[in-house]
Amino acid sequence: MSAARSFPPGFDWGAATAAYQIEGAVDEDGRTPSIWDTYAHTPGRTVGGDTGDVAADHYHRVDADVALMRELGLHSYRFSISWSRITPQVDAERLGPVNPAGLAFYARLVDTLLAAGITPVVTLYHWDLPQALEDAGGWTSRATSYRFAEYAAVVAAELGDRVGLFTTLNEPWCSAFLGYAAGVHAPGRTDPAAALAAVHHLNLAHGLAARAIRERVPSARIAVSLNLAWVVPETGSAADRDAARRVDGLQNRLFLQPMLTGGYPADVVADTADITDWSFVRSGDEELALVPPDVLGVNYYTPTHVRHWTRERPRETADGHGDGTGSPWIACDDVEFPRPVGPLTDMGWGIDARGLAEVVRRIDREHPGLEMVVTENGAAFPDEPGSDGTVADPERVAYLRGHLAALADVIAEGAPVRGYYVWSLLDNFEWAWGYAKRFGVVHVDYATQVRTPKDSARFYAGVVRTNSLTL
Ligand code: NOJ
Repeated sequence: MSAARSFPPGFDWGAATAAYQIEGAVDEDGRTPSIWDTYAHTPGRTVGGDTGDVAADHYHRVDADVALMRELGLHSYRFSISWSRITPQVDAERLGPVNPAGLAFYARLVDTLLAAGITPVVTLYHWDLPQALEDAGGWTSRATSYRFAEYAAVVAAELGDRVGLFTTLNEPWCSAFLGYAAGVHAPGRTDPAAALAAVHHLNLAHGLAARAIRERVPSARIAVSLNLAWVVPETGSAADRDAARRVDGLQNRLFLQPMLTGGYPADVVADTADITDWSFVRSGDEELALVPPDVLGVNYYTPTHVRHWTRERPRETADGHGDGTGSPWIACDDVEFPRPVGPLTDMGWGIDARGLAEVVRRIDREHPGLEMVVTENGAAFPDEPGSDGTVADPERVAYLRGHLAALADVIAEGAPVRGYYVWSLLDNFEWAWGYAKRFGVVHVDYATQVRTPKDSARFYAGVVRTNSLTL
């Protein structure tokens, strides 16, 4: 299929996970509930009523899991920190005391990684907001941004000398739109105005936290991971192109602009005028949010096809995320997302590696010189061990091969992409889908917690070892 390709010397190969998706141990060592504990324990919210209570039990298996990473030859490991382990008593007014046992867990993880020659890459927020903050408004409230920056400072002070990269937020689009508009993620609200307030307070949180980290640790490298969409209008018609503009505005530009150049896109503000007057943006906020990261984290899974919709026919699907769970879109009443065709992953997501190259090209064109790392890319397939105990996952190997080839090509064109982290190291709790979807290159038997590297893990280890794609 694809010809051999090499990656630049020093290319950073890693794997990614997130706290609530793998750790379990939700009430150990002083941890208090996050919005995902509450949401997953609410009947009807997750497939099969699955929760992260045990997950992949990573909290108790750090040594074995780091040994697995070492076998794969990983250079870096991207994991997230559970805020409610670090400051379990946080509320809207104050951060509350630091929990030494919570910090100690991550300090030990970091030290174990370093001893194995693996660089720790920290995500400070991967969707598990402490529940007490949600009770006071969550991301609709400005106080959350300030508490987040204080928490970031605590983590930076403790781990800053040993961490390669601090990612402030993971996919804030999901936090805002899936959490506060579509209601398919925690906290499960369905209020478009709340979602836009959340967008702003997440952008503000990025800026405040990035400054707080740099103040504590001047040498720290800062990232933010965005799920950038490759938005493809179905035709060149003005109506389809306008649909694409709006979706691009809500998913990409609402985050890129405030962090990289400042302020909000005027067209999106105008499109959403009947939802909110944007008065949650206060004078001075534009400067506070505007902290360009040292590295832009790109998360990419699937293309986003859009077309104009008129009421003359039923809307094909209102699902802009491709996960079949409902429409996160606001101000897009006349947009539809055509059902993907061709090979699909187990999420029902279309497979098109061109999108990864296109989002990278676009960033490089609009923000020349901005370094990027692909902080997530991967696919779910229904893998199970065969009778010989091995896990054959040829579709995942093909998916990774195709996306890595596209990435190598765009790097060869000159785009400054410095690394790639596969999603995910382990099968894990796939949010509203629970354990029904497997994204790992390592299979997890949830009954026994036995880890079995899949064929894709061997494939990926080969890529890492040779710094190239053969074939
Ligand atoms: C993006 C999210 O960051 C991650 O938590 C999730 O599991 C993957 N996408 C797959 O949906």
